[in-house]
Amino acid sequence: MEILTTAAALQAHTENWRRAGQHIGLVPTMGALHEGHLQLVRAAATECDVVVASIFVNPTQFNNPDDFRLYPRLPEADAALLAPAGCTALFLPSVSEMYPRPTVVQFGFGALERVMEGEHRPGHFNGVATVVSKLFHLSRPHRAYFGQKDFQQVAIVRQLISDLTFDLELVAFPTVREPDGLAMSSRNRRLSPEARALAPRLYQSLQAAAELLRGGHTAPAAVQAAVREQLAAVPGLELEYITVADAHTLQPLTDTYAGCPAVVCLAAHLGGVRLIDNVVVEGK
Ligand code: PAJ
Repeated sequence: MEILTTAAALQAHTENWRRAGQHIGLVPTMGALHEGHLQLVRAAATECDVVVASIFVNPTQFNNPDDFRLYPRLPEADAALLAPAGCTALFLPSVSEMYPRPTVVQFGFGALERVMEGEHRPGHFNGVATVVSKLFHLSRPHRAYFGQKDFQQVAIVRQLISDLTFDLELVAFPTVREPDGLAMSSRNRRLSPEARALAPRLYQSLQAAAELLRGGHTAPAAVQAAVREQLAAVPGLELEYITVADAHTLQPLTDTYAGCPAVVCLAAHLGGVRLIDNVVVEGK
């Protein structure tokens, strides 16, 4: 596996592969890799001829300076995991390589970003769209792999690809979980043993919410209230939001659930660590 640290090197390598007729898979990450990331890389290795993984803790998508500062950075350990997963090249740029000058262009995603993560992390999706656009331009992948763990991010990237006519296929990969149901996340490393023991309660409450919705007798607002009540009983857990939304438009459902594909998303703080998770309810 090659390690590329400059934009020019990434461009040159991917351009050569493209000319040679090789299909390029891109897996953008911020590192501190876990099995969720590695499954994306393995899927890319199965479906593409070459796989580029990027590791870049992107400052423009963090609205909380402490979260950026404390974000785990483990490039050597990450590189050792990527090669056996089938990664061809690791793109590991510095901040000044990705942002030689401050950016001025702003992305707006309208209603898509006025809810959930977009509502609670102002500027977050502008930063995501900026860095993802740069990575798409530099590597010109045939396929780009994203996890459904970040459900709203997938919707934002899908809109970005459509609006800016990026010539690539978006692959949305299901959430990979720990055996006890906790969604894998780089932030899980920062959980204390006590907080880690309580963290599966998030997924349990989401599963219960999905069951209520599937049952068809509970209004989304009542489903949200039920989750709030369950999680209020978890010591040290502070729920930031719980939203039942249309899975395509991401707009909140409140009074009635008519059986459209839906998603239940939440964000919570547990022992100082912010966690997100979601479950999808297939339509009837
Ligand atoms: P990061 O949080 O490192 O995640 C990188 C990719 O791995 C994302 O597409 C994310 O959805 C996926 N992923 C994370 N945990 C997962 C899990 N448990 N199961 C399946 N997929 C999972 O998301 C980002 O980085 C950044 O916003 C990025 C897209 C790289 C832009 O900076």
